[in-house]
Amino acid sequence: MSEEPVHVQLQPLGEAFDLPRGTPLRHVLFGYGLEFPCGGRGRCKRCRVRVIEGALATHPEDASVLSPEELRDGWRLACHARADASVTLEIAQWDVAILADDSSFDFTPSEGLAVAVDLGTTTLVAQLLDLDTGRVLAVRAALNPQAAYGSDVMSRLQFALTGEGRASLTDLIRGRIGALVGELTAGAGGAAIRDIAVVGNTVMHHLFCGIDVEPLSHVPFEPLRDGLELFRASELGWQVAGDPPVRFLPCLGGFVGSDILAGILATRMYHSDALVGLIDLGTNGEVVFGNRRRIVCASTAAGPAFEAGRISKGMRASSGAIFEVTLVGGRVQCRVLGDVAPRGICGSGLVDAVAAGLDLGAIQPSGRLANGQPSFPLCPPVELRQADIRELQLAKAACAAGIRILLERLGATVRDVERLYLAGAFGNYVNRASARRIGLIDFPDEVVHPSGNTALLGAKLALFSPALDFAPIRARVEHVSLAAHPRFQEIYVEQMGFPPQ
Ligand code: FES
Repeated sequence: MSEEPVHVQLQPLGEAFDLPRGTPLRHVLFGYGLEFPCGGRGRCKRCRVRVIEGALATHPEDASVLSPEELRDGWRLACHARADASVTLEIAQWDVAILADDSSFDFTPSEGLAVAVDLGTTTLVAQLLDLDTGRVLAVRAALNPQAAYGSDVMSRLQFALTGEGRASLTDLIRGRIGALVGELTAGAGGAAIRDIAVVGNTVMHHLFCGIDVEPLSHVPFEPLRDGLELFRASELGWQVAGDPPVRFLPCLGGFVGSDILAGILATRMYHSDALVGLIDLGTNGEVVFGNRRRIVCASTAAGPAFEAGRISKGMRASSGAIFEVTLVGGRVQCRVLGDVAPRGICGSGLVDAVAAGLDLGAIQPSGRLANGQPSFPLCPPVELRQADIRELQLAKAACAAGIRILLERLGATVRDVERLYLAGAFGNYVNRASARRIGLIDFPDEVVHPSGNTALLGAKLALFSPALDFAPIRARVEHVSLAAHPRFQEIYVEQMGFPPQ
């Protein structure tokens, strides 16, 4: 074995390390929580990993278990793989629970098939729709392959501004979504597709559409071109029967993209007499409040803490993740996804854990661990360190400050909000009492409604209204730049602490 190391990165975990060239990956990845259900005998396929960048040689066993398409897409069995070259790997076992949308909605039937795509910073979801019945015929989900260049939009921007960075991020995302659309249409027997609608935040919009992202990298973070972008599938390099139009729906400004415009469509906020809110806390945090008269929106620099990014034992909500923490008789109890030993904590577990720490007095309202303790133990080997609590404080302060500034802009208070929709995976799974305990979502329970993937639902609604004019809705929406707000810093610092008991 040569001593020259190779560099290995794991997505979506965000871990990176060096290994001596030729090291078998099995034991190394086991240490990061990858399970080998058939004991590495090449039967279960559950250990498969996908090469996002770099190379991982195929083993003869791979071809007997994986399909030619999977091999071509870069899938390999980790149980047989050796690190012969630097590589970035996507771990299939951790690629679960991407939130799609199965809500019913009103629509006017038309003919044909169409595809709705939610292009998230972390995940991608595409649904094939029958425009006559409104039924979802198939769903495909994947990780955003750009995650190899950073988990949040700022790191993607930094990479996009280097040499060929932007072009490669554009190629990566077009290629991956094209593959998802190809899988969906292959399942439909190659029937012609009439329309494809894509939604995403402003950075995803620019990178997909091939627009210069430089203006998004500095104050005042204003997009260069943020309207509806129209392509033919063939222009994007996609082989789709019918060569349908591909519409990337327009942004609302700054980092507030068409995913939030789609959320406004999905919640029907622009028809409501009452004051309604929509909060989407993903890798990026977006907040909207409004009604039929006026809508204000902002993007918060919350960072990835709500998805457990930058948390020492943080991980996605998949096998081995602590997703719920409660206190029973003054003792911490954890629930772990997949009924296996805990190996990390996801966003909902993190909020619960800090709420429990506050109730126990192990975490002070300032966020400091009490009595000089180095950590707050949860379920071994998972614990919260001081830096983890700080990371959550920064995220929740950014979000809470955004909520306050937008409500102030409307001359309203928390009590005036009749419905608050929590979108996205975090909004769906977070415990509302814990979110209130840490001062994140300080609204009465009866007002708060988990609302699933409103971005995908809005994209579907747009497919049923191809002539929908977004201009009147966009004209009603005022984008508030929090970075430029004179009191943002002061309110942000105020919101940093946790509410006392
Ligand atoms: S562990 Fe079963 S195929 Fe690799």
